[in-house]
Amino acid sequence: MMSGEKRKIMIFGATGYLGTYMAKASVSLGHPTYAFVRPIKSHDLQPSKLQLLKEFESLGITIFQGELDEHDKLVDALRQVDIVIVTLGMPSYLEQLKIIIAMKEAGNIKRFIPSEFGNEVDRISPLPPFKAICDKKKQVRRAAEKSGIPYTFISANSFGAYFVNILLRPFDEKLHKATIYGTGETKFVCNYEKDVAEYTLKVATDPRTENCIVIYRLPRNIITQLDLISSWEKKTGRAMEKTFISEEEIIKLSQSSSFQNAAVSSIAYSIFIKGEQMNYELKQDDLDVGKLYPDHKYTSVDELLDIFMVNPPKSGISVYE
Ligand SMILES: NC(=O)c1ccc[n+]([C@@H]2O[C@H](COP(=O)([O-])OP(=O)(O)OC[C@H]3O[C@@H](n4cnc5c(N)ncnc54)[C@H](OP(=O)(O)O)[C@@H]3O)[C@@H](O)[C@H]2O)c1
Repeated sequence: MMSGEKRKIMIFGATGYLGTYMAKASVSLGHPTYAFVRPIKSHDLQPSKLQLLKEFESLGITIFQGELDEHDKLVDALRQVDIVIVTLGMPSYLEQLKIIIAMKEAGNIKRFIPSEFGNEVDRISPLPPFKAICDKKKQVRRAAEKSGIPYTFISANSFGAYFVNILLRPFDEKLHKATIYGTGETKFVCNYEKDVAEYTLKVATDPRTENCIVIYRLPRNIITQLDLISSWEKKTGRAMEKTFISEEEIIKLSQSSSFQNAAVSSIAYSIFIKGEQMNYELKQDDLDVGKLYPDHKYTSVDELLDIFMVNPPKSGISVYE
């Protein structure tokens, strides 16, 4: 398989947040693109999802409808493609085990990219709620390694637009308040979702990445929370009111009875207190996405803020319940 070669790409989770970027990136890079989606039932379908599937079809994406429990249907669909990229979200990570069983039976899949796209799960020691999420992703890694299907594990670190929304609330014109986890001085990596998707398509079709871990540490996206706030303040010309949440408070919040609050806090602890996106050296076998594709022009976090200045989101991601 040569890098950049056109391959038939199947995406599971294409209707989700990252999956939509992934499906569009696959089409724009010229790959025949397929999406395996849950059956469309007109009575329970949100209009936005129906609209998205119509958009996919108009882009030429072939849609397979089925449940992941429908093993034979899954095997038949997999036999028609070369590469599988999964972007299933929480709490469905272990559903990927069904895809692995079906890929083994199909016998033709040349690369499997499981749903990870975050911190490097084998190299972090998270607090319990985030640990539960990472443990599921690790379980899928171990199953992929055992399956004999060529795989690539991707540590994409923080999604840029997602984290800018959480940390700067650019949709909230009046408030200008920032919540800072810890001191705000810990380095993390903020990669625009469009780039995460485009790099993933390159990785998925690249023989150099087979059975490797690829880490997305793009140099212009390695920043701190304080850097991010100060860039935003310069662009908007307005100072933000800063509220610091201490390490102790984050640990306490991670023990909250609300799963969402506990998950968000324990993820923040990993990224902003322990610095688990930048606190390890790459091993000899690890691949750095920026070095693999030095010619790919990615959107830096600074450029992403410019995008947000011109097109402020209408609403934001609600972090705490
Ligand atoms: N690094 C970061 O900053 C960051 C941020 C967010 C997410 N992530 C990671 O990115 C990956 C994708 O997350 P996301 O937020 O994009 O996910 P998401 O928006 O929740 O999308 C979930 C997708 O999975 C499908 N799905 C869920 N359960 C399913 C099931 N049982 N059977 C079949 N399909 C199912 C959904 O289909 P329906 O449309 O039918 O519901 C949807 O297409 C995850 O690994 C997540 O951890 C990373």
